[in-house]
Amino acid sequence: MQVAAESRVTWDSQKPRELREREESEVMENKGVKEKTMEDGVAAMAACYAGFDPAAYLQYNYTAPRADFTRRDSIVPWKLGCLHRAFTEGDISGGLLVDVGSGPTLYQVLSGCEIFERLVLTDFLEVNRRELKRWLQDQGKSSLDWTPYLQHVCKLEGRGALAWSEKASRLRAVVSDVLPIDVHRPQPLAPGALPSPGADCLVSCFCLESVSPDLDAFTRALGHIGGLLRPKGHLILIGALGESFYQGGPGVQIPVVPLDEAQVCSSLKQNGFTLMRLEVYVLPDDMRVGVDDVSGIFFVKARKE
Ligand SMILES: C[S@@+](CC[C@H](N)C(=O)[O-])C[C@H]1O[C@@H](n2cnc3c(N)ncnc32)[C@H](O)[C@@H]1O
Repeated sequence: MQVAAESRVTWDSQKPRELREREESEVMENKGVKEKTMEDGVAAMAACYAGFDPAAYLQYNYTAPRADFTRRDSIVPWKLGCLHRAFTEGDISGGLLVDVGSGPTLYQVLSGCEIFERLVLTDFLEVNRRELKRWLQDQGKSSLDWTPYLQHVCKLEGRGALAWSEKASRLRAVVSDVLPIDVHRPQPLAPGALPSPGADCLVSCFCLESVSPDLDAFTRALGHIGGLLRPKGHLILIGALGESFYQGGPGVQIPVVPLDEAQVCSSLKQNGFTLMRLEVYVLPDDMRVGVDDVSGIFFVKARKE
């Protein structure tokens, strides 16, 4: 290895200086073009989100048939079951849970909120952060009634559906902040937003693939959010498989990176995560309701090395 490197240096240094300079400048130019293309892709994604409508998004994805609590094969009960198992297996612990790209939804933290003393919700859009704060501060009507969700998770916990208001109070008590985030920045949160070792656990659902222009950007964004997690901390990642777009509101079509399981696993590996569990849900035909072209959903539990 070393010999090859040395001989390359010798050969390079024998090149005329002008040629070397031209080659170096071409390399820099290509790098610049690549970075510019990447930035353009990310900016185009941000522009797509300008029309995101939290109430419509909740209606499309978080009401029946996708949230039918009488059916185990409905999307939301499947996700809640996975989250419940992940947080009750006994290996996830610590003080701080961070949810990345919360959107206007709370379902993803209904199990985790029982384990962690502090929970930070995050989203890129002010409209979504406002929607979350409205529920958390119990001010005004939320765009979705989370009661059936709270009841369902209480049942999974064996507490009986009547405990739902205790869970609502617990959630309101442990959420300390609802912060802006941009997963395309190497530091997605404002400096000092989290204590220095990072979060003990991250949850992120349907965020990275639906805000990234391509697989490289998805993998890079996964690395960025990995930086928010302490070593040996857990990552719970839920996302869409085979999806190329979703509706963020009436007439708002948002492009998505179509992923398969192998790509998800490879992105995790490239970013130093050890996969602990991967579960896949295939959409029954009647869950394909025309608001996206998703074919399946992955659930990942992983640990940062
Ligand atoms: C498909 S929604 C997912 C919302 C929610 N987590 C769920 O499970 O339904 C994607 C979310 O990513 C947010 N988002 C858009 N651009 C982002 C960025 N650059 N960084 C982080 N989040 C972003 C959007 O505002 C939106 O709330």
